[in-house]
Amino acid sequence: MKSWLLGAERGFMLPVQASSVAPAVDALFKFIFWVSAFFFLLIVGLMLFFVVRFRRRPGYQKPTEAPSHNTFLEITWSVIPLVLVMIMGFWGFKVFLDLNTPPANAYEVQVTGQKWKWLFTYPNGHVDETLHVPVDQPVRLVMTSEDVIHSFFVPAFRVKRDVVPGRYTKLWFRATKVGTYPVFCAEYCGTGHSDMLTTVEVHEPGGFERWLEAASNLLNTLPPAEAGRRLYQTRGCAQCHSVDGTGGIGPTLKGLYGHPVVLRGGNRVTADENYIRESILEPMAKVVAGFDPVMPTYKGRLKDQEITALVAFLKTLASEDKGPAEQGRE
Ligand code: CUA
Repeated sequence: MKSWLLGAERGFMLPVQASSVAPAVDALFKFIFWVSAFFFLLIVGLMLFFVVRFRRRPGYQKPTEAPSHNTFLEITWSVIPLVLVMIMGFWGFKVFLDLNTPPANAYEVQVTGQKWKWLFTYPNGHVDETLHVPVDQPVRLVMTSEDVIHSFFVPAFRVKRDVVPGRYTKLWFRATKVGTYPVFCAEYCGTGHSDMLTTVEVHEPGGFERWLEAASNLLNTLPPAEAGRRLYQTRGCAQCHSVDGTGGIGPTLKGLYGHPVVLRGGNRVTADENYIRESILEPMAKVVAGFDPVMPTYKGRLKDQEITALVAFLKTLASEDKGPAEQGRE
């Protein structure tokens, strides 16, 4: 079989194969695809041919008595599809089992889906918005959702599974190629569904451990404002809050600190440390006018030290002498 039909690294219709199960999934997919394509062309081709060949012509004569059936033909066109669907069934079941049986020594990462981002919690407690994994090691994801049903999808790994509130779903893979691959949400989950993107970074041997070590010590190794900026980028704030004054799902953070904010109902508050802290932990307490109350709480998910770092970062955004950047649009 030609390599572009089976097991090619990058076919004309499928993304790069970057996990141990990808070749098997692709081979099965291509088998089903080409069998279907073959029979589609055969059946539609013959049908068109017969329509033209046996059309009614001038001098049409009533057909003579034809045989009512042909046992050999009927068994043939029953047995061939039966064999083909049995192959698809057993082959599919085998790949399904492989996809659902993680090796016992798999490295475990907790995944949280929420509107509209992914959070990955590593065994040492570090939380990140990007999935980092070591190459050539089985990784098992234990996934749950904060709100609605999402679906975790890594095309390059050929794995996809629903992420459901109130229960854990699991998924495993062994990445086989160092690189960065896109992660999608594959279940429509509201306004920000198509923005629910992140990446999985496959590290070379040893690189994953170095990354985890460095990422976990962010707060101890960086000045608070810089650590806050990293938290802003990695913990989901950036998904909804811009830092350059542009609008988003949530109000921009530019020029926020120290300035008055108009709330729903018309009250005004000054965005000081306590307001920012409260808005992170209890987002529904003071909703900015013109925005929907859609922010999830970060209670239990940001440590005090991290909130302090975020406040320090927001202070750097307020330093320009611009006004309150009109928080609260009508
Ligand atoms: Cu989450 Cu779509």
